This record gives sequence, C-alpha cells and structure tokens, in this order.
Amino acid sequence: MGFEKNILCIGAGYVGGPTMAMIARKCPQYKVTVVDIDKEKIKAWNSSNLPIFEPGLDEIVKKSRGKNLYFSTEIEKGIEESQIIFVSVNTPTKTFGQGAGRAADLQYWEKTAREILAYSGSSKVVVEKSTLPVRTASAMERILNENSKGMRFEIVSNPEFLAEGTAIKDLENPDRVLIGSRETPEGIKARKEVVEIYLNWVPKEKIIESNVWSSELSKLTANAFLAQRISSINSISALCEKTEADIDEVAFAIGMDSRIGPKYLKSSVGFGGSCFKKDILNLVYICESYGLDKTARYWESVVDINDWQQNRFVQNMLSNMFNTVAGKKIAIFGFAFKANTGDTRESPAIRVAQGLLDEHAEVVITDPKALENAKKDLKQFKQGVTFEANPYKAAKGAHAVAVLTEWDVYRALDYRRIFKSMVQPAFLFDGRNILDHKKLFETGFNVFAIGKAPLKHFRY
Ligand SMILES: NC(=O)c1ccc[n+]([C@@H]2O[C@H](COP(=O)([O-])OP(=O)(O)OC[C@H]3O[C@@H](n4cnc5c(N)ncnc54)[C@H](O)[C@@H]3O)[C@@H](O)[C@H]2O)c1
Repeated sequence: MGFEKNILCIGAGYVGGPTMAMIARKCPQYKVTVVDIDKEKIKAWNSSNLPIFEPGLDEIVKKSRGKNLYFSTEIEKGIEESQIIFVSVNTPTKTFGQGAGRAADLQYWEKTAREILAYSGSSKVVVEKSTLPVRTASAMERILNENSKGMRFEIVSNPEFLAEGTAIKDLENPDRVLIGSRETPEGIKARKEVVEIYLNWVPKEKIIESNVWSSELSKLTANAFLAQRISSINSISALCEKTEADIDEVAFAIGMDSRIGPKYLKSSVGFGGSCFKKDILNLVYICESYGLDKTARYWESVVDINDWQQNRFVQNMLSNMFNTVAGKKIAIFGFAFKANTGDTRESPAIRVAQGLLDEHAEVVITDPKALENAKKDLKQFKQGVTFEANPYKAAKGAHAVAVLTEWDVYRALDYRRIFKSMVQPAFLFDGRNILDHKKLFETGFNVFAIGKAPLKHFRY
C-alpha cells in the first residue's frame, strides 16, 4: 500500500517512541519510522519487551508496528525517504566547558542536523520535538540551509508536553499542541503540514500556532512553572512541620481558589525526572547570557528548594533515628521518579539512597518497574545496597521504611504485617504523603510525613 507521506523521527526514547506510536495509530495514511543509534533500544522496540514502561504503550505499538510504524537503525535510509523529520534526541545538561551544569548540551541535536543535511536529496520540514533553548531553530537553519544542493529546510518547533506515566493519555487527549514556525510564507506552509498531522485526532481549537521563538520558550516556561508550584508548596511544608499546620490541608484550602487551582500542589520529597531541573537550569543560563540576572536567580531558586527538600528528608530520617543509621537496614519503597514509569532520571530516591549509604546504612531498594535503572544509578556503591522486588521481603528486619514513589501498590500493602517483621522501634517516612498516617501510628509505627507533625510513640 502506498502511503500519503513518510514521517521520520530521529530518537526512539521516552518521547520519540510514544509520540510516533500515537501518530501512526491515528494516521494510517502515513508511514512512520523511528530511528535511533542505539541498536539495543531498536531491538527492544521491535520485541514484546519494549524499552520503556508506559501504561497503554504496548497496545498501541502492537496495533501499528509492521503496518505503518517501523523502528529501525537505518538513519540514512529514513532521512532519504521522508518528507517530515521529527527530532527527539536527548538534550541533557552540559557537563563540560562553558555553561557546564546549566546550559543544554546540543551536540546530539547538531549531529542530527548534520546527518539530515548529509543524507537528504530534497527539501524537508524538520520538527524540533526535543526541548531546546530559545533561538535554537536559528542555529539549525544556518546549518541546514548552507548547502550547495539547493535544498531548503524549514524548522518547525513542536515541543512535547506529555508527562511520563500518563504519556499515552496525554498524547491521545492533549491539553494543547503547540506548533511554531517562522512567519514567512514558507514557514507558515511548513507549520500547516505539521498542523495537518495533529488534526487527524486533536480538535482544531487545541492546536496553537505561534512564532518559532514563542514555541521554544513556552516549553521551558511551562516546565519552570510546573516545577515552581512544587517548590512553592514544598517550601511551605517545612513551615508546617514546625507549626503543626498540615500541608495537605493548606494545599486543599489554597487550591479551592480558582485563581490558584488544585493541581500540582502535592507536597513531597521533591520533583525528579529528566526535564524539570535541566530545563530550568537551561532557562537560567539563557537569562544570564542576556544579562537578566534577577530572572535567572528567581528561577534558580526553584531548583535550590528542590535540592534542599531532598536533603532535608535525609536529615530528618537521620535525626529521628537517634542521629545514626550506620548498620541499620532501611527499605526504600519506590525508586522511579514518579509512579507508572520505570524512569529514574533525577529521581529524589537517588539522592536519598546516596545520603543513607554515605551514612553507612544498609539500604534495600524495592520498586515494581525501576529496579534495573536503580542498579545502574547506584553502581558506584559496591556494598550496602541490595535490590528486592517484593516489598515485604525488603522491609523484613528493617529499622525504617521510606516511601519515595507514589505507586498504588504501596497504598495497598499490609502494614501490620510489615510492622511485625521490622526491628523496633519501627520508623516510617512517607516522602509522598500517600499512606494513612494515623492508622500506621496506631499499628505501632513512628510516622514522619512531609509537612505534617510527626506521630511518635516516644518523646526525645
Ligand atoms: N521524557 C519526557 O518526559 C519528556 C517530555 C517532554 C519533552 N522531552 C524532551 O524530549 C527530548 C528527548 O527526551 P527523551 O526523554 O525521549 O530522551 P531519551 O534519552 O529517552 O531518548 C533520546 C534518544 O535519542 C537517541 N539519539 C541521540 N543522538 C542520536 C542521533 N544522532 N541519531 C539517532 N538517535 C540519537 C538516543 O540514543 C536516545 O535513544 C529531550 O529534549 C527532552 O527534554 C522529554
């Protein structure tokens, strides 16, 4: 069967895989190919054991794979054959040179642009799917359009707003789809080609068009605002712990104000994920480079509060467990940065586990989906850490349990059974405020939650 259009996506990660699976599912008239340099990842995308866990993903991949959705390592062929190329390669924080620890590392993006140029035989639309610093499109235009073959590349910005754990739901029914381009006739034409793809399932009024710089900057700003809400509520959680105010009650009360709204007000051990910290630091770096120091400091404080909240959690464990955890077994319930994903990038659990291991605790990690990633994250610790899929076994003989991911499975455990199997006095630190603290206290636990007065069976 002939296809109306060939769409390519370079980068088969958490964004490229699910977004292209959704496009293929909703647009059977297009051939969608996802390519990556990582052979193992492509092999996994072509198997029954996909490289990422995301609810609903298996099903949509299975329905389209081999029909109009293909995963491949043949980057050259993919580029040659396509009319529209999405690029969703990683854009991590730079670890070297100027801007190290803050600026986005654009080497993967630039390499991809040069590959597109090398293997293209005709003009194409190149879509920025990765999150990029504002004005990246301008650099890409320069690289791509300085060619002697007479080809013209239009750069369109189409940032991805999906959240891991709910990616399929978000892609199927997005709050909005943002598509930005140059406001020239060629730019608008390219933008419309991308709009046309989404119109296959997204209502017209949810597709926003803008200039390319607004689109690039909106993605960074959206992540900065989301993270800022978490840091704001977390900063207040510390005050709650000192004053017997309860952070969940405060969040509920302020969230009823329609100007504030109830979402993203859940206090916790801190935000994680590959994006928030990196995107805010990228924003900070851009502001600094334009001499906007006040703006830079304002957003930087969102990351500072998040680091502080994670450190505070470890400090709180230590001080409540009689100022020493050396030789004590501590079970960490959840290592993923949030529920319903196996992704552990920037997970607060990494810092908490490291903090406890530095204090010579015996840490046991349990998680329904993230144990393999957890092993990689903690590989520098040759001793003191073990991994256990069963939470009951993880907690057996432990002095404390720390809940660090809001997996539903942890709400449903038999905590009486867990309590009985632990060393007494048994401690429970709820870093996600998901458990019934009063009930746990009545069971016998000493309970420490975020932004709440501790429930202790002894005074000291
Ligand atoms: N993960 C999220 O929730 C999320 C959400 C929205 C936006 N984003 C943004 O999307 C982008 C991708 O994020 P991700 O989480 O999917 O990253 P990822 O690391 O999971 O995937 C990126 C993929 O690109 C591949 N790659 C790198 N260079 C390549 C090249 N030259 N040719 C072919 N493949 C190459 C890598 O092998 C990797 O598989 C980032 O800019 C990120 O900020 C991520």
